[in-house]
Amino acid sequence: MSTNLDSEPLAAGTRRAGGCTVTRSSAEETAALRRAVLRPHLTIEQMILAGDQNPNTAYLAVRAADENPVLGCVRLEPVACPWPEALQEPAQAPWQLRAMATDPAVRGKGLGRLLVEAAVQHVAQRGGDLLWCNARIGAEHFYLRLGFRPVTGHFVIPDVPEEHLGMVRRVLSS
Ligand SMILES: CC(C)(COP(=O)(O)OP(=O)(O)OC[C@H]1O[C@@H](n2cnc3c(N)ncnc32)[C@H](O)[C@@H]1OP(=O)(O)O)[C@@H](O)C(=O)NCCC(=O)NCCS
Repeated sequence: MSTNLDSEPLAAGTRRAGGCTVTRSSAEETAALRRAVLRPHLTIEQMILAGDQNPNTAYLAVRAADENPVLGCVRLEPVACPWPEALQEPAQAPWQLRAMATDPAVRGKGLGRLLVEAAVQHVAQRGGDLLWCNARIGAEHFYLRLGFRPVTGHFVIPDVPEEHLGMVRRVLSS
């Protein structure tokens, strides 16, 4: 069942909270949660995104134990930042963070933070120097708490009712 691309756990200190662990996952393993939280109007088949076949694209998932259901996920892909003029210094290796979601039953317990910290580590280990995202306005404060800053006004993404804003976070390569 597992289609993990990389079974290596992320480094200690950023991957566990309340007994949960972040590991490399896949579009398929995270599709049900992403659909339920982010795109309930789409089918499971439509949850595959352009770029998922890029070998550098990574899904990270958090679970209570290896075979347990996915409680949260995030997707990372090297993609140019759409707002280069808003950066304090140019990004040499920007990555897009998207598909950020946690199960409503376990929110407020630190799993979103765990995923973003793992995402930062994943990108830093691959030489990335910037994370950017189209943040739903309802998640702006979550991203602010995780070190992102807003760089745009509000904008609309087709088929998503909630407005978004652009947010970025510097990453120090490790
Ligand atoms: C946004 C989301 C991923 C947060 O997940 P979570 O597991 O509840 O996050 P955490 O418990 O790790 O919270 C991390 C920090 O953000 C804060 N935070 C989380 N959600 C928040 C919110 N809606 N408003 C304000 N602060 C919030 C927490 O208080 C916490 O702060 P602290 O660690 O400094 O005390 C989750 O609410 C979600 O899936 N929302 C729906 C989908 C969505 O909007 N995704 C983002 C798409 S751009």
